[in-house]
Amino acid sequence: MSGTVSQLPVAIAGTGSYVPERVLTNADLEIMVETSDEWITTRTGIKERRIAAEDEFTSHMAAKASRKALEQAEMDASELQLIIVATITPNTLTPATACYLQHDLGAHRAVAFDISAACSGFLYAMKLAERLISDGAFENALILGAEKLSAFVNWDDRSTCVLFGDGAGAAILKRAEEGEGKILATDIGTDGGQTDLLNIPGGGSACPITIENADQRLATLAMVGGDVFKQAVTRMRDSANSVIERSGLKPEDIKLLIPHQANLRIIEAITKRIEIPQERVFVNLHKYGNTSAAACAIALDEAHRADKFGRGDHIVLVAFGAGLTWAAAAIRW
Ligand code: ACO
Repeated sequence: MSGTVSQLPVAIAGTGSYVPERVLTNADLEIMVETSDEWITTRTGIKERRIAAEDEFTSHMAAKASRKALEQAEMDASELQLIIVATITPNTLTPATACYLQHDLGAHRAVAFDISAACSGFLYAMKLAERLISDGAFENALILGAEKLSAFVNWDDRSTCVLFGDGAGAAILKRAEEGEGKILATDIGTDGGQTDLLNIPGGGSACPITIENADQRLATLAMVGGDVFKQAVTRMRDSANSVIERSGLKPEDIKLLIPHQANLRIIEAITKRIEIPQERVFVNLHKYGNTSAAACAIALDEAHRADKFGRGDHIVLVAFGAGLTWAAAAIRW
């Protein structure tokens, strides 16, 4: 599903991110499961990831990222009209993590809800918020990708536990003023025929956790890594190309590509196919691993604060995740 230039242009007024203090390195994982720094580094590019404290929930990390974004946008939480949290690791199945966040921030006027689109969730939220603002339904929105994946990882399964980490990223969207940047084009897509490639099989209505199945750890991430890898490359290539073309841009116009941070080999494969040189691609997965919906959001904030792009520059975000889902956005900053 594609969206081109909005009637009312929508800009990103501020970004923020937060990662927990505790660092889990590849060397730490070597003690926990049969793996090696060499295997993890060559297969994924990941060196370490952050792990939230036991009493640090998804909404707490989201609140910390949100406060930074609000500060940068020079906005008070009471001005927010809409909050969308993209997460697959909510505080509770219900109510939505966005409700806890709304209360924590004191954003009393904001309508708040969650969306579940795995690693593509932040860009799904961006598209939704951009449309709702551009249609005039809301003046502004706080969107987040926030995950406590460490609570849904089987720490005895070496094929998945080395990949994931915790964190949150936020962005404030608002109607663009004259001369400000804007979201140029967005793209989201889903293939529900491949739900078996990447999922958390237990803990939902299809397979509640019971005393009988409790020892099978069904409420943890399961993945057919190789198949996901191939799908990730083609879907992200196509989604990124779609927003680049519809924005009237060429690869050489892109100041920075911010791809989903799952695997360095996937990133290298898609950037070759989009024909963007590696030095114009933002990578931070070596520090955080795959933080699912939070990955693009944290990367956007880090790149922004590191002045990797500025006013007038064109950037492209692209993501892929369970569902299968994929999404991209082209933005003039
Ligand atoms: N340490 C050492 N060996 C390992 C480890 C480990 N941590 N994990 C797996 N292995 C072994 C396997 O057992 C296998 O051994 P075998 O050949 O004897 O059977 C071997 O390494 C190769 O395993 P593969 O799965 O073929 O490894 P691959 O090269 O495919 O890399 C990886 C695996 C990193 C998971 C890769 O497939 C990948 O990145 N996939 C995509 C992940 C992704 O993009 N996810 C996106 C969304 S995530 C979301 O939505 C929540």
